[in-house]
Amino acid sequence: MGTVDMKDLVAFCKRKGFVFLSSDIYGGLNGFFDYGPLGVELKRNIKTAWWKAMVHEREDIVGLDSSIILHPNVWKSSGHVDGFSDPMVDCRVTKVRYRADHVFYSPVSIQHEVLGYVCVVDSGARDAEALKKAQHLRQQVNRSHETLDPLQLRPLTEATMEEYNLIPSPATDKPGDLTPPRAFNLMFSTHVGAVATDANIAYLRPETAQGIFIHFKNVVDATRVKLPFGIAQIGKAFRNEITPRNFIFRSREFEQMEIEYFFRNDETLWPDLYQQWIKVRYDWHCSIGIKEALLDFQEHAKEDLAHYAKACTDIVFKYPFGVQELEGIAVRGDFDLKQHQMHSGVSMEFFDEAHQARYVPYVIEPSVGVDRIFLALLVSAYDEDEINGEKRVVLHFQPAIAPIKIAVFPLVKNKAAIVDKARALFKYLQKRWYTIYDESGAIGRRYRRMDEVGTPWCVTVDFDSLENDTYTLRDRDSTEQVRLNQTELLAFFAQHLA
Ligand code: GLY
Repeated sequence: MGTVDMKDLVAFCKRKGFVFLSSDIYGGLNGFFDYGPLGVELKRNIKTAWWKAMVHEREDIVGLDSSIILHPNVWKSSGHVDGFSDPMVDCRVTKVRYRADHVFYSPVSIQHEVLGYVCVVDSGARDAEALKKAQHLRQQVNRSHETLDPLQLRPLTEATMEEYNLIPSPATDKPGDLTPPRAFNLMFSTHVGAVATDANIAYLRPETAQGIFIHFKNVVDATRVKLPFGIAQIGKAFRNEITPRNFIFRSREFEQMEIEYFFRNDETLWPDLYQQWIKVRYDWHCSIGIKEALLDFQEHAKEDLAHYAKACTDIVFKYPFGVQELEGIAVRGDFDLKQHQMHSGVSMEFFDEAHQARYVPYVIEPSVGVDRIFLALLVSAYDEDEINGEKRVVLHFQPAIAPIKIAVFPLVKNKAAIVDKARALFKYLQKRWYTIYDESGAIGRRYRRMDEVGTPWCVTVDFDSLENDTYTLRDRDSTEQVRLNQTELLAFFAQHLA
């Protein structure tokens, strides 16, 4: 079973046309990525699978598509204008900007006598780097023969003012080079209309959720929904991350799939619903081929909860750079609807006929990034194995997720009857499933090319096909081949690609 590191995965994604650096020919734009011919297919398949399972196959969820730029008061009411910020520090010398909670410091001491401080940026090599810096510091004070006390790395946000003045910049290793932490609002702003003044400032949405909350009343009035019910939305969101990193994991433009699931404002109801949603979402990730062995849960401690949340659990994934959030499931209570009710003056109350009561409902929010699922799927599917002594890279995507479903090959390209038959089959399949036609190179190389991008099946038209109307169907994972006639072949695809 092959594993993949990030450097190789990024190179692989570019080489095969999954993901490109945005504005690549101009040197790229940090924190922005573009999806290539195969990436766009994979992304669409992820979104289709989510929409099918979360909207079409349920009776209690409806969809919405709200605009990216909303009235600026939406973000004042939601708390984003005042509170959606990260603590930021700058290195005065190198001008590099860091998220203060991504920078770690520790006193360096020998038998509790503090010699100075070390400071490193969070990464897989964080502890080793901090130790190296501590040993260097010890050497500078001529105490190399003495044993250091264990380092105690803490985020910079926890440093006292006294410590702060002694902590070096991670870039220069000199105390005093870092600016004090400042709050940095993560929303991108723009101006609506020709004049750029404070009066017409607007923001690119940092989450799709608020677009749902502000249409709660419209959806209730336009449909016959009864509590509990949900509103689902897929769309772009933007965050001016201080330090975008880990490829498409933390970028500045990304795509969210969010559900706001509204229910009666009864404190006894949410714990069960919350657990149900955690399970529904976990099972969905497994159902599209994310490896269960790489999935886990992390419940947020009460003191770490966002201002609006009663509880929150992350479904986490073991990415090559560490275990990090894939999806968050938060119990948001009635915070958002009440804020919008108060600031807009529009009632967000729901009349609950069953209980003959009028109230602002509570909400549970499963929120996931398409780009993170994309990454988790690639990591889960990536494998390197050996077929007949030859190494191959293979992506074990599920058929529903695979960018290309079927490849059709003529065994040779210089025999018109074979080419014509292969093209006719290709044209037929292409109308039903995303199919490609490839006649260039040896047949083995064509199989490898398809294995590498996760195409589940290849169909080869050969001399026997002309005789008896049968085709070779080759399976990506087992590499086994079977001969099927046209009816059997089409029945096979209809069954496996429903
Ligand atoms: N709506 C929650 C989030 O964007 O993280």
